[in-house]
Amino acid sequence: MATFFGINITHIVLLFYLFSSDFGLVRRAESLGINYGQVGNNLPTPDKVLALFTSLRITKTRIYDTNPQILTAFANSNIDLIVTVENEMLAVLVDPQQALNWVETRIKPYFPATKISTIAVGNEIFTGDDATQIQNVVPVMINIHEALVQLGMDSAIKVSTANSLAVLLSSYPPSAGSFMPELTEIMRPLLQFLNNTGSPFWINAYPYFAYKDAPTKIPLDYALFNSNNLASTSSGMVDPYTKLHYDNMLYAMVDAVIFALYRLGYGGLEVQVSETGWPSKGDPDEVGATIENAQVYNKNLLRRQSRGEGTPLRPNQRLEIYLFALFNENMKPGQTSERNYGLYQPDLTMTYNVGLSALSSPTSSSSSPSSSSQTTTSSTTTASVSLTSSSTSLRKAATSGYSLGYWMTSVCVLIFYILERRPL
Ligand SMILES: *[C@@H]1O[C@H](CO)[C@@H](O)[C@H](O)[C@H]1NC(C)=O
Repeated sequence: MATFFGINITHIVLLFYLFSSDFGLVRRAESLGINYGQVGNNLPTPDKVLALFTSLRITKTRIYDTNPQILTAFANSNIDLIVTVENEMLAVLVDPQQALNWVETRIKPYFPATKISTIAVGNEIFTGDDATQIQNVVPVMINIHEALVQLGMDSAIKVSTANSLAVLLSSYPPSAGSFMPELTEIMRPLLQFLNNTGSPFWINAYPYFAYKDAPTKIPLDYALFNSNNLASTSSGMVDPYTKLHYDNMLYAMVDAVIFALYRLGYGGLEVQVSETGWPSKGDPDEVGATIENAQVYNKNLLRRQSRGEGTPLRPNQRLEIYLFALFNENMKPGQTSERNYGLYQPDLTMTYNVGLSALSSPTSSSSSPSSSSQTTTSSTTTASVSLTSSSTSLRKAATSGYSLGYWMTSVCVLIFYILERRPL
């Protein structure tokens, strides 16, 4: 924060301008990601999964290991892959030589044919109960990064770690977002590392959990992104300090994380949602875990993603989201909901239709969509259209919102600035 005060306000505005607006233009051309978990004994082979991703025009996924079959099958595809250092591996990779070996054997043989974009070091470790693992996260991230540097792959492959939303002490209202005090000291070096390497801060954020725990307090429509229904019942949520309006809980969660980062002096980090989703089935005590809700949540999320939306705090920076998950995973322990997050069944049939195939409506004449699907997806096709060609006209269209975005961002920055000068 001290650094923050030292920086001239115009620099900050400029920085935000560059990060929000410019990156927004580029990001708009990207698709959302889908997490590809493999905790099942009946899942399709990686080549079939690749075919599914290709047909859906999904170009980003995350796996929870470095499964060589997947890394091999995905070679020469256009899929960007996040791979994961399993939590149990941290104790080994805290030795720099072991980390180098790991990158040499688990990553290097497949790269760059397989587009490995990021290495996730562990999943939700900071909110786990293994104190040694918690201490090891950042040293292992540094070791992996150093290994990438040594092997000349650091400019292409980033390193991060996925956090549970439980790293936050407070997330409501978003402007009150702050980290658990006991995690502050471990967070600082993490954030420093992410900032130094230009890597995103990852959060696994599930409005479903919040709703399940307080179904009488949280409007279901707010949790489900049903902004149209909200208008008739309530108007969503207005943060009393920033006055920003939230029509859905996920964006409020993300902005709470941004505020928490900000309080530690790293408000410039990009926040990405490494997981979000809604289970289609649950135990009797898992309120809200239904097919209808899962379909509505994921459908709304996809619709908002295809517009390239940012959160109210960063309206021009496309919020990068990885949906959880591609498949129902029958070997997952825990409550019934755990095994029922999949958009697809292991036999490749849809659990429910979220309109992903509509999102992937083709841009070439080789396969023309029916006229009805064309009209319903006119706004959603932008994301996939811009992946291929004619980006110039899109760029032009996008620039019309450019200057407005600039001013909106500046106003946000000013609000930030004013807020920060108050005692928290
Ligand atoms: C984060 O990185 C930016 C860009 O490199 C830099 O200007 C800023 O000072 C860094 N922030 C901290 C707190 O180190």
